[in-house]
Amino acid sequence: MSDASFLRMRGISKSYRVTQALRAVDFSADAGEVHAIVGENGAGKSTLVKILAGAVARDAGEILLDGEPVSVDSPLHAHRLGIYAVYQEFSLVPHLSITENILMGQMPTGRVDWWVNWRAAHRQAQDILERIGFHGFNVRTPVARLSVPHQQMVEIAKAVAGRPRILILDEPSAVLSQEELKSLFRLIRQLRDQSTLVLYISHRLDEVFEVADRITVLKDGELVGTVRPQEIDEDRLIKMMVGRTLDEIYPPRRSQPGAEILSVRNLSKAGAFEEISFSLARGEILGLFGLVGSGRTQVARCLFGADPFTAGEIRLKGEAVSPQAPTGCRRRGCRLSHRRPQAERPGDELLGPG
Ligand SMILES: Nc1ncnc2c1ncn2[C@@H]1O[C@H](COP(=O)(O)OP(=O)(O)O)[C@@H](O)[C@H]1O
Ligand SMILES: [Mg+2]
Repeated sequence: MSDASFLRMRGISKSYRVTQALRAVDFSADAGEVHAIVGENGAGKSTLVKILAGAVARDAGEILLDGEPVSVDSPLHAHRLGIYAVYQEFSLVPHLSITENILMGQMPTGRVDWWVNWRAAHRQAQDILERIGFHGFNVRTPVARLSVPHQQMVEIAKAVAGRPRILILDEPSAVLSQEELKSLFRLIRQLRDQSTLVLYISHRLDEVFEVADRITVLKDGELVGTVRPQEIDEDRLIKMMVGRTLDEIYPPRRSQPGAEILSVRNLSKAGAFEEISFSLARGEILGLFGLVGSGRTQVARCLFGADPFTAGEIRLKGEAVSPQAPTGCRRRGCRLSHRRPQAERPGDELLGPG
């Protein structure tokens, strides 16, 4: 970290009431690099980048670009300085089209400046999406009708449309499929090669190792250090993040699962998933893992009784659940809770017995 860094954040502190989210953090990054920021949940990653993007006010510290102190008191200030951010929470206007969201505040006008040149606008929005490798969008569609991954891509396109000098991506991969992630990485490298600083936050370390030029680790609101991926392996990075090794984080489990309470046999729903079988015992935590679109949510919805299923069997505490009107699950204490990031469709989901 030299004084000549393109971006310097010096002595950044922030607390939310009793929580000290950041404690005198010194962070530097260069133009033309992909700089990953990693750390456990609650380490302060989002707070740090939100301060840089003018979305959160810092309590102390200063921000310098090219050695000059700058003030980023609002996202608009940040945009003027070329700092754009894509957060876990989206900022799209649901009833407006993809075009309007991407070109917000910079719509092309006709001969008189209150007249929007829609043809040019749609073409521009389409161009931006194509250029960054996101295909198959109808830019006239209101974003409320898009899936969560597609909303994420529009959000990214909107940031890229601002021609960022600093692009912040806060956990962008959480909702993207493998294919979409590849396009995103291509875009990130393209921007880096055009001298953009890309700040990439992720909890998936394999991604971080793949895309980052440098990695900064935060822990409990403090900066632990900055490393290059060539100098470190995943185990040691995790040790920096949590201060313990993997064996210590995941000690052998001692819980003794009890009787079977849920049994799912050859569960199928036409067009959604086929022949899913598993069982769950009392005291057990079962993970349902898969990429976006693989059918996790749809299985969960059938279990919960929100959707009918077409074949197979669900037995809850020994009793069969009716495939057409599966409300019995709810009566018997099955609860569904999911994160719904300002969209029509649930993103990640959690299923727990109530
Ligand atoms: N708006 C907020 N109000 C209160 N506490 C917050 C708020 N945002 C974040 N925090 C707290 O600040 C700490 C750092 O959060 P955050 O920056 O979101 O961490 P990360 O992104 O690394 O998971 C956490 O303890 C979190 O609970
Ligand atoms: Mg975060």
